Amino acid sequence: MDAFKFHNPTKLIFGQNQVTQLQTELPENTNKVLLVYGGGSIKRNGVYDAVVAELKKAEVEVFELSGVEPNPRLSTVRRGVEACKENDIDFILAVGGGSVIDCTKTIAAGAKYDGDAWDLVTREATPESALPFGTVLTLAATGSEMNAGAVITNWETNEKYGWGAAPLTNPMFSILDPAYTTSVPKDQTIYGIVDMMTHMFEQYFHNPTKSPVQDEMIEGVLRAVMETAPKLLDNLESVEYRETILYAGTIALNGMLQMGYRGDWASHNIEHAVSAVYDIPHAGGLAILFPNWMKHNLEVDPSRFAKLATNVFGVDAEGKSETEVAEEGIDALRKFWSSLGAPERLADYEIGEEKFDVIVDRSMKRGAFGNFNKLKEDDVQKILEMSK
Ligand code: NZQ
Ligand code: ZN
Repeated sequence: MDAFKFHNPTKLIFGQNQVTQLQTELPENTNKVLLVYGGGSIKRNGVYDAVVAELKKAEVEVFELSGVEPNPRLSTVRRGVEACKENDIDFILAVGGGSVIDCTKTIAAGAKYDGDAWDLVTREATPESALPFGTVLTLAATGSEMNAGAVITNWETNEKYGWGAAPLTNPMFSILDPAYTTSVPKDQTIYGIVDMMTHMFEQYFHNPTKSPVQDEMIEGVLRAVMETAPKLLDNLESVEYRETILYAGTIALNGMLQMGYRGDWASHNIEHAVSAVYDIPHAGGLAILFPNWMKHNLEVDPSRFAKLATNVFGVDAEGKSETEVAEEGIDALRKFWSSLGAPERLADYEIGEEKFDVIVDRSMKRGAFGNFNKLKEDDVQKILEMSK
């Protein structure tokens, strides 16, 4: 393993009705809260009312920023920064999925920065401070509720980048009530499952660090997700299954599984470039791209793919070469995601090859990428071709 330091400052508050903790979790002397949310799901499922009731008890003045879009946009971040500066906001509360939380993280840092928030996203500038913020999560997927990362899209330039500045962009606290996620529709539930699984794969494929403990943890969480996912999709209102998936999504990307090595993350980089150009759901893109990333990189270390195939997908290795086992594992992953209803090809989103050059260009903006295998333009082009 590589040397590492692990410190995750986010307080995780998990369970039904835990929104009642909100009052006590707000920092002392909080007077003005900016409540950030998306397109209205929290108004339809009652979460908005529950949160506002708690904020009332805390006797704070509430300002609102609504309409954060999936794949949150720089223009919305800018609106939020302005609202914070104009109204002297001292705390931000994100209520929603990863998009609302990522937007909030960037607003929090942007509010304390003199220039344009895009400088932070492109890492041309590093924030020196940020407003404190907390979250009430409503969708199991990204892990943003317990990490420092944020992904923001500049729709004017078709760029979408991840950034973060721990501990400034770590939520102070995150409240996770599985019952709040029972209203998530089937398609978003599938995307969430694909996203958290891909986060674990991205970490599993690192090279050449030995990581037997981390491997066991990842394989175990993956098996639990795969066992629960079909049951949940048959019973979207089950709090029990929602709870398992919600907890798995947080564990998948809160740093617990990535101690002592760097994950690969190439597929995420390519997907961000795809959704910067076509505005498709993040995990819809991952479901299409990731198995093709696997095929493209199989020869880098077939034993790694074979290990995943046997331990997670139950492939019987008897009498087969490592490469054969690995290939069966990749097919099993594709089959599993398809059985849930995830997309398989870019054509499922009516995406052709017209803008492959733009996607390749955007994904290469920060140079060759991937830690299991470094990808160059050619590799990205090939993975896109395989995904048509
Ligand atoms: O906007 P509203 O009306 O709230 O509806 C949302 C949205 O349409 C809906 N939704 C959320 N909770 C709901 C609900 N609908 C009914 N009931 C509920 N309880 O779901 C839709 C999608 O929400 P969104 O927040 O966009 O989804 P997700 O959590 O998957 O976030 C995706 C974004 O996160 C980024 C992605 O790139 C994408 O921009 N990522 C962030 C990461 C991070 N910060 O660590 C890592 C990820 O890899 C990812 O890149
Ligand atoms: Zn993701």
